[in-house]
Amino acid sequence: MKTILTGIRPTGNLHVGHFFGAVQNWKSLQGQYEFYLEIADVQALTDHFHDPEMVRKNVYELTIDLLSCGINPSQVTFFIQSKIPEIAELTVFYSNLVTMSRLYRNPTIKTEISQKKAIFGEKGESVTYGFVGYPVSQAADITAFSGELVPVGEDQLPLLEQCREIVRKFNSIYGDTLIEPSHLLTTTPRVKGLDGAEKMGKSLGNAIFLNDSEDVISKKIMGAVTDTKKIKKDDPADPEVCMVYYYHKLMKNENLETVCQECRQGKRGCVACKRELIEKMLAFLKPIQEKQAYFHEHPEEVEKILEEGTNKASLKAKDTMIRVRKSMKIDY
Ligand code: TRP
Repeated sequence: MKTILTGIRPTGNLHVGHFFGAVQNWKSLQGQYEFYLEIADVQALTDHFHDPEMVRKNVYELTIDLLSCGINPSQVTFFIQSKIPEIAELTVFYSNLVTMSRLYRNPTIKTEISQKKAIFGEKGESVTYGFVGYPVSQAADITAFSGELVPVGEDQLPLLEQCREIVRKFNSIYGDTLIEPSHLLTTTPRVKGLDGAEKMGKSLGNAIFLNDSEDVISKKIMGAVTDTKKIKKDDPADPEVCMVYYYHKLMKNENLETVCQECRQGKRGCVACKRELIEKMLAFLKPIQEKQAYFHEHPEEVEKILEEGTNKASLKAKDTMIRVRKSMKIDY
């Protein structure tokens, strides 16, 4: 079995965009690989170091959300990044193999820095060493577990490329030790927001969270962007520019053809169309929310899953570290 490693930052609850963009893909991979799923608390701290309570709380929230979506802990090893000190150790050694200019040229880092500038103005300029260096730490995440395949979205490809460069450099200097990982691109591209923005995101205020209440979901969907040229209920409209249609499609509405035709022919009002989507969304979220409630009532089960997974992951990382230390001649 090949080894898969992926990670997710514990900075908030999962939303529908996470489900269709990433989690669904992970579900289809579980059972076929040796699968490590990292709750990347150290990485979350690179830009949330001032908010440790938030990160800690979300380690559990996120694990609950993932379990509730159907990630199966008997097939997937959940672990907490900070509990594996070998990752931090590898990060230090890898940091010698990366130049500052290469880090600043990383497109993901570049984009994230400019987003910070846009949000924080001048303050956004003061990016930390830890933040600019997180691709190095992510390379350690992957290689500590000899990850061969890394399922990621497109925005993460530059990080994976940087990881491969580090692996090649390490192997060329210290001898063949590390495995060069390949990416496994998610089949669904990023999920759009209710407002029509290219990405559904927590900070963008355009997301439906898996734990949103019925009331909140109804309000959010009622406010979704539709064809702006449609004024009256029976005006014909273009479903291709409508977010409600987009979500009907995403959620595989079995009457999609009808939705589309009725919309084009002006036989379907937006309110009715939204109500139908609300119903589908609630039905989709119901079993997930039931499981969320169950795990909130049984925190000891969640803790056990994290503990057992972390123990298993730790063995693998220790094994890598023995080889790395030997290659680097620091195996005193
Ligand atoms: N950077 C990833 C994200 O923001 C999360 C992550 C952490 C990750 N470690 C990883 C992804 C290792 C793939 C492999 O989504």
